Amino acid sequence: MFACICFGVTEDEVKAEIALGARTEEEIGERCGAGTGCGTCLDRIGALLRAAGTGRDKMHVEAAA
Ligand code: FES
Repeated sequence: MFACICFGVTEDEVKAEIALGARTEEEIGERCGAGTGCGTCLDRIGALLRAAGTGRDKMHVEAAA
């Protein structure tokens, strides 16, 4: 399944970038372009980051703790 239609990036590709160290939507975009077009996929990319135990929501929770 595609995570980003604009750049034809699949969810598996995004997950691979997360496994290689990407921690934010911006880092995903820098690595594979996903999210740098129309931006409608940013919520999906953020969900993949959170599902992997990373991403902004987790950082905010950690920062607040
Ligand atoms: S669908 Fe990802 S930038 Fe447009």
